[in-house]
Amino acid sequence: SKLEMFVDELLDMPKILGFDSVYGVPRSKSLEIGMYSKTWKFHRDIPPTPVYAFGVSKEAATIPGPTIMALHGIGTNVTWKNYLPPTHILPWDTSITIAEPADKIGIPTVVHLHGAIGEPESDGNPNSWFTAGFKEKGYAWTKETYRYNNNQQPGNLWYHDHALGLTRLNILAGLAGAYHINHPKLEVPLGLPSGDEFDRTLIVFDRSFCIDGSIYVNSTGDNPSIHPHWRPEYFGDAIIVNGKAWPRMIVQRRMYRFRIINASSARFFRFFFTNGLGFIHVGSDSAYLNEAVTTNGFLLCPSEIADVVVDFSKSKNDSTILANDAPYPYPTGNPVDEANGTIMKFIILTRTENDSGQTPNKLIQYPGPDLSSVTQTRYITMYEYKSATNQPTHLYLNGISFEAPITETPKVGATEVWYVINLTGDNHPLHIHLALFATLDQTELVNETEFSDCMTKINDAIKCQISKYAIGKSIEVPAEEKGWKNVFKMRPGFVTKILVKFSYIHSNESYPFDATAKPGYVYHCHVSIFILFFLL
Ligand code: C2O
Repeated sequence: SKLEMFVDELLDMPKILGFDSVYGVPRSKSLEIGMYSKTWKFHRDIPPTPVYAFGVSKEAATIPGPTIMALHGIGTNVTWKNYLPPTHILPWDTSITIAEPADKIGIPTVVHLHGAIGEPESDGNPNSWFTAGFKEKGYAWTKETYRYNNNQQPGNLWYHDHALGLTRLNILAGLAGAYHINHPKLEVPLGLPSGDEFDRTLIVFDRSFCIDGSIYVNSTGDNPSIHPHWRPEYFGDAIIVNGKAWPRMIVQRRMYRFRIINASSARFFRFFFTNGLGFIHVGSDSAYLNEAVTTNGFLLCPSEIADVVVDFSKSKNDSTILANDAPYPYPTGNPVDEANGTIMKFIILTRTENDSGQTPNKLIQYPGPDLSSVTQTRYITMYEYKSATNQPTHLYLNGISFEAPITETPKVGATEVWYVINLTGDNHPLHIHLALFATLDQTELVNETEFSDCMTKINDAIKCQISKYAIGKSIEVPAEEKGWKNVFKMRPGFVTKILVKFSYIHSNESYPFDATAKPGYVYHCHVSIFILFFLL
């Protein structure tokens, strides 16, 4: 039977301060956040669902987890504690490389703060996983308490599990939450809608459910003779916002700020309002844009974050629906239907508020990408290897899988240009840890098959004369994605040129870079987070 939409109220996840105040002076704070097995109500008519949830206690744990409110320049220590049972609620597949406890008991987890620029020991490397009570540990395990120095620019981050080969299942089970770095001195003067009521975080993902309420995962692998359960992409039928399927929110006729995180495994969202209301973009991923950008809709890939202001006083109707029309997989897959094409409903009160907030055109000014500081150019090629039955099996970067020895060795503080060549049929969100990048251009490949044949043989973009093929049409980077980001959508059949900075971007107020931290970078595609590899 069909589930009724808009019957649950939008939830606001609990907020946890990442700092203490002593006589008004902010101090560093230590938090303990656990991962618990419990049940969660995703919808009025779905029975309680077994999930894994973050929280300060089992009772307080939520889907998604609590929002951590950190303060720029004040460190937050978090001891992430694994209280998960011996076996997983979702089907594992050990035919892919996976974090595996020696005694095969316990669920490996490790938390990555996505968008953080800080010490690599606290980055949540996929091989630094641990099981309940820190009993079993991956070979790259560093320490129990992670340190987030919050010295980067203000913006939106999110934390999620990152255990090797289990990330996809652990996030599907519920292990994700939001993390804000606030910088009142820079942000308050902007006058954006603020406070718990008007500044909201929306964590959006898709899920399917069985009749008994449990999360449905198609557990027949895409190529069962090799991978009994594993499939590279997960798509669900219901759209969940802050832990509720198609919720509703009652809003005043005024401006609201929404920090929207796509926490799906593989689903892209192309958001728009059914009554034509626009979006004023003020930030993208973990950084503010230099200037506000207005759109009528926008594309958000897995792990990407949009920070937008919506002015409900411009609405001619008393309600509107936030909808999605992105095919899945993106861009050439199935068209959306009513269920996965609907996100949530806003019911707009008639009363007009005077204090509606404002969005200045000029936001926070960061220096743009500077090509003269580039010390290294790299070519990164994305391929999908096909099995005998012509099913895509694994995604590789430069023909090398995540387990291979380290290939790229950028230095802390370096600026590099990367040409990312996407030879797969899908759009892949590229994410780089501990860095920010700006996308310079996207150029289509001509005679892609010829180039890709050469790459399959000799795996060297320069010897295969990439410059002879990267001469097709070029596509403008959307204005709302022109700032400093940590995820960008790599179009299939295109070469995307990015400028990567492996350090902080200093804002007006700069903090010293921690020179003692050992460099260690991870970059990967964020669709199901199925293949990664290291930079060190
Ligand atoms: Cu969202 Cu490697 O992470």
